[in-house]
This record gives sequence, C-alpha cells and structure tokens, in this order.
Amino acid sequence: MDTTNKVKEQEKFIEKIQEINQNKQLKYNILTMGCQLNENDSEKLCGMLEKMGYTKTENPKEADLCLFNTCCVRENAEDKLFGKLGELKRVKEQRGAIIAIGGCMMQEKHITDKIKESYPFVDVIFGTHTLYRFPEDLYKALVEKKKQEDILDIDGEIFENLPIKRDSNIKASVTIMNGCNNFCTYCIVPYVRGRERSREPRAIIEEVKELASGGYKEITLLGQNVNSYLRVEKEKNIEFEQYEGVNSFATLLRAINKINGIERIRFVSPHPKDFTDDVIEAIADCDKVCKLIHLPLQSGNTKVLKEMNRRYTKEQYLNLVEKMKNKIPNLTLSTDIIVGFPGETDEEFEDTLDVVNKVKFEQVYMFIYSRRVGTPGDKMKEQIPEEIKHKRFDKLKALVESQIEENNQKYVGTIQKVLVEGKSKNNENMLTGRTDSNKVVIFEGDTSLINKIIDLKIISEHMWYLKGKYE
Ligand code: 5AD
Ligand code: SF4
Repeated sequence: MDTTNKVKEQEKFIEKIQEINQNKQLKYNILTMGCQLNENDSEKLCGMLEKMGYTKTENPKEADLCLFNTCCVRENAEDKLFGKLGELKRVKEQRGAIIAIGGCMMQEKHITDKIKESYPFVDVIFGTHTLYRFPEDLYKALVEKKKQEDILDIDGEIFENLPIKRDSNIKASVTIMNGCNNFCTYCIVPYVRGRERSREPRAIIEEVKELASGGYKEITLLGQNVNSYLRVEKEKNIEFEQYEGVNSFATLLRAINKINGIERIRFVSPHPKDFTDDVIEAIADCDKVCKLIHLPLQSGNTKVLKEMNRRYTKEQYLNLVEKMKNKIPNLTLSTDIIVGFPGETDEEFEDTLDVVNKVKFEQVYMFIYSRRVGTPGDKMKEQIPEEIKHKRFDKLKALVESQIEENNQKYVGTIQKVLVEGKSKNNENMLTGRTDSNKVVIFEGDTSLINKIIDLKIISEHMWYLKGKYE
C-alpha cells in the first residue's frame, strides 16, 4: 500500500473513534520532549486527537488520554520518562485514562523492554515510523482493550496530509525532510529516525501557501540536515517533481521567499559541511530569510571533530563563517556545542573557546556530552569524568554569557523589526515579539499589533530579553 492510502486508512480509524467518543467531552493531555521536529510531530498527534473528538487540557489529572512524545538525544531523558510514568500511573488508577507513549525513545529496545516490565499500565507504545498509525493503535487499545506495541525499525517513509493542530497562529513549523545519514558518533538520531528522505517540493510549497492564507507570518523549515534537502533523492535517482523550480535547498528558499503573506523564513538545522555557495547566495538574496543562521559547531577542535565524524576542520568552519559574513549583510549566528566528548583534552577544549571568541555567536546552545547506547561514542574508551565535563561546561557558559551581555549592549538605541507574538507571559500589560536575530523584545503596546512586524526602539537589555519602545 502506498503512503497516501495508508493515511486514508487511518482516517477511518479516526472516524470510528470519533463515533465512540461522541458526546463524552473527553480530554487529552500531551507532553512533548525534545526538538522542534518532535514538537511538529506532536502538532500532528494533536490534530488526530482533536478530529477524534478529544479536547486539549494542560492538566494530566483531568485527562482521559495522556500522551507522551519522547526524545532520546540527550541525558536526563530517561529519568524524565520514568518519573513521568510514575505520575501517569496515578492518573491511570484514578481515572482509567489511556496512556500512550511515542517518539524517538520508543525506538530503543532497552527502553520499551523496561516499560513493558515495570510500567504494564501503558496502553500504547509507538515509534517514529508509526506515528501516522496512532489512530489504529489507539482504536485497538480502546475497543479490543489490548496493549499495543507498534514499532518499526525501517529506513522510513514520508506521510503527507496528516491532520495537524498548530500551537501558534503566527509562527508555523514545516518539516521538509526526515531522518539523517550523517552518523555523528555522539548522536542517536540516525538510529531512531532512520535514513534521510525529503518531502516533495510541491507538498512543502502548498503547505506554506496554505499557512500564508491562514495568516501565518513566520515559518521554520525543519530537518536534521536541511541543507542536504533532495540530495539523497538526486544521488539515488529517486524521482521527484520539480515544482516551481525547486530541486535543492537553495531553490526551496527562493520559492518560499516568493510566497505572499509569509514575512519571515527560518530553518534548522543545516550542517556546515553541506553549506554550499548556492545556499549562501539564496540567504543573501531572499529578503524574507532571517539573517540569524544556526550553524552547529559541536567542537572547535579538528581532532575532536574528526572523532565526532563531523567532516569539517576548525579552519573550514571559521572560513565558512568568514565567507558567510562577507556575503550576507547583517548575518548573525547561533550554534550547538558539546563539551566533554570522549578523548577531549583541556587543550582541545580550548579550541572550542577560541572559536566562540572568534565567531561571537548570537546564541550558543551548550550540551554536556551524554553517552547514548548504540552510538560509536558510547563505545569509545576515554570517557571524560563528569566533574571535568561540568567544569568545561561552566567555563564555556561564563564565556558565552559575557559575550551575550556585550552583544546585547549593541542593540540598545537601535531600531529593530519585531514580529509581535502576543502578550508577555510574565507581564499581562506588555507585548512580546522577536527580532530577525530571534531576540525576545518586551514592550508596551496595543494588542492590535499582534501578528504584525513593527519597528521598535530598543531601550534596555536584560540578558535574555530586550526592552523596546513603540513610537
Ligand atoms: N550528548 C550531548 N549533546 C548531544 N547532542 C546530540 N547528541 C548529543 C549527545 N549524545 C546535541 C548536539 C546537537 C543538538 C541537537 O544536541 O549539539 O546539535
Ligand atoms: Fe545527529 Fe549529526 Fe545527524 Fe545532526 S547531523 S541529527 S548531530 S547525526
């Protein structure tokens, strides 16, 4: 059966559950861990559940169905899952709620084995490749009252036209590819999300056009390695339709830039090794593409990068940054850094600090290396003691924070274009929005400004946000 028919078949299960749920006013609670891709998956799960007649609640204690979409990329994920399962056990006992667990962590056998053994009240377990089949699994759990475990270990497929209930009506995420072929040695993603596959250009463009007509202003293109969009397809002669001239990531950016109504385009994450000139030129040419580019560094040391299988050197990374800065006016950069990768010496770690000093990132997402079962990194002999990892982390954090403070000063007194997202969560009387460089700006203004891009004068800086004035 092709994927279109597979999705159609699931619509029947959605209808059947909707019939069962009629007039019952059932509620669901969803908890999502991890990256924006996982959040986008959760939006699809929410879309399915709402079609089935469930409404969302933020309180698991009043839910008839509790869903947990897991991530396994970094540490603590397991503790968090098992802690949450303890909590959900009580919801099960008190309300008889259905408990469903999905996402990346379910692709790990040692995890599902532990759930089955120690948390037998879980009704549905599904993985990354079976998300589309959640309606069928849930139906079987509801009607046949049998536990469902639906996990596939495959390369993966693309499913179009799944229902979706988006978290925001201003900013939307659009997944452009699934999976990853890079196998960085610390990373579990290629094992749990399968091989790289790109969505058809037409499907992406149509989705963005629909978002534009729905009033969305900002879209974020998502994938584990967005700048290799359609590369596998071209290499393997997998047929795809060149819609509106799209046959690469650069041409995709150009096509989306032409869509009326969309005012900002972001993307995460590109890989430095695939940052070709055509992508740099497209970013420079396309006025809607935000000039904050996320460029994951991971380490600033060439030997560590080699051990990580990143396929670029310190110098290549710095040269790429130079080239981008020269070609893209107003470029700002953010990055991901891992400290304490196996074998990393103090001296090698200094290279990471050196790159941070040279590049002056707008934002740095810092991670302490955590061993992931099944990855080559986990088998490396020279694991770094926790205290050294933490020391390095603290040193990096201090450097990054001092740079952020310094960088924030540069904003004060400038006029910034800000997309207004809504009322500030911490102060009802203030509005909040983001600059092109993704800085949060808080300011006083009328709610009619929401979902507009306006000019704000920056009047002060406060580490994690700026204060603006609307004139
Ligand atoms: N340990 C620590 N950080 C990791 N990341 C991925 N795998 C690991 C790991 N095993 C970080 C990388 C990646 C980000 C999404 O998570 O920096 O870019
Ligand atoms: Fe993981 Fe590397 Fe793929 Fe990113 S590019 S998902 S870090 S393997």
